[in-house]
Amino acid sequence: MDDRILVFYGSYRSDRMGIRLADYIVAGLKARSEDAELIDAKAIGLPMLDRMYKEYTPTSAPQAMEALATKIRAAGAFVFVTGEYNWGMQPGLKNLTDHFLEEWFWRPAAIASYSAGRIAGARSGLLWHGTLAEMGMVVISSTLAVGPIADALTAEGKPLGEAGQLLERSFARFADDLAWWTEAAKMQRARKTPPY
Ligand SMILES: Cc1cc2nc3c(=O)[nH]c(=O)nc-3n(C[C@H](O)[C@H](O)[C@H](O)COP(=O)(O)O)c2cc1C
Repeated sequence: MDDRILVFYGSYRSDRMGIRLADYIVAGLKARSEDAELIDAKAIGLPMLDRMYKEYTPTSAPQAMEALATKIRAAGAFVFVTGEYNWGMQPGLKNLTDHFLEEWFWRPAAIASYSAGRIAGARSGLLWHGTLAEMGMVVISSTLAVGPIADALTAEGKPLGEAGQLLERSFARFADDLAWWTEAAKMQRARKTPPY
């Protein structure tokens, strides 16, 4: 279980496109025999932040929050699939992540951005870099940047044309890099108990 990679995606839009990239990443990791799971913020449906998970007394957190906290604590690494709204982060994903803090510590995180245009969500990816570092994750240097997403992936998350081929080439390095850091962090956690 502590090798599991949780792939987070947070658009709540009815016509959302980024699910293509999230599905592609989960399938790509599984094809490498990684244990990967999609965490779809919309499906989990946490409320707008009131209390953080740690602010609830034991056993009193909402069931969905408790279950997600358990998954985050047990995971080995995280991927954040991020789109861009007005040069910013998608609120659904940010709202989900803000519910937790210590649960994220001491694990690597990778960022995969996308958008409808050629900037590929890069501005949002940049914002997530600082946020994930603040939340105690080691943000790896390899990223995916997919845009326009409609040109790169089908509705089923399959690579499409030249843009899809480019994504396939970037994905191998992205996944290798994440696997290296996942193993490194796991070994260090086993060697030395994190200080807090
Ligand atoms: C409210 C809103 C703001 C947007 N702002 C940007 C933007 O700043 N930069 C950009 O490249 N695309 C922008 N777009 C287009 C998105 O990249 C595109 O709609 C993408 O599919 C959004 O992700 P989603 O479909 O997973 O929700 C915006 C879309 C919406 C709905």
